[in-house]
Amino acid sequence: MHPDGKKILLTEEAIRLRVREMGEEISSDCAGREILCVGILKGAMIFLADLVRHIRAPAFFDFIAVSSYGVSTSSSGAVRILKDLDQSIQGRHVLIVEDIVDSGLTLNYLVENLKSRAPASLKICTLLDKPSRRKAPVEVHYNGFVIPDEFVVGYGLDFNECYRNLPYIMVLDPSVYRKVE
Ligand code: IMP
Repeated sequence: MHPDGKKILLTEEAIRLRVREMGEEISSDCAGREILCVGILKGAMIFLADLVRHIRAPAFFDFIAVSSYGVSTSSSGAVRILKDLDQSIQGRHVLIVEDIVDSGLTLNYLVENLKSRAPASLKICTLLDKPSRRKAPVEVHYNGFVIPDEFVVGYGLDFNECYRNLPYIMVLDPSVYRKVE
């Protein structure tokens, strides 16, 4: 394990198996309809890349970037779009792909924003969910793992832009963010 980790929460194998199951579930629900997968940058990129290879329906991608925590482990509450979608979602079946739902503030804002663009349907798929930290309601349709209230990194998730390329998900040793925050 990386020396900044406290413990491994999800191994590479556990993630691989669950992501495959999620792809299969999404495939059977969408019954061959075209899906527009909207990845939330940058945390969801690795999850999205693995997930779409298990979706057996025509899948298209787009990406949106929203203001993130910066050098912090909790959300300020204010959400801003830093990079918008490249294409219209009107009349499309949209699947938002997120790395983790924590306070819910980011997705709560994004869902309202994307709904106003008149998609045919809008669903949320997240790899991780920390329900104990919720401040705003979010209806999650596909969830990989419910996790405890600990700050995790790896498999796309970062702290201060580090650790995204770890193939597993580990709990970050709090001494690392106490030094920076
Ligand atoms: P929310 O708006 O509080 O739900 O925050 C969602 C975003 O916060 C995610 O897309 C992540 O970028 C970030 N985040 C929340 N919890 C963690 C964590 O444990 N590790 C890394 N990033 C996190």
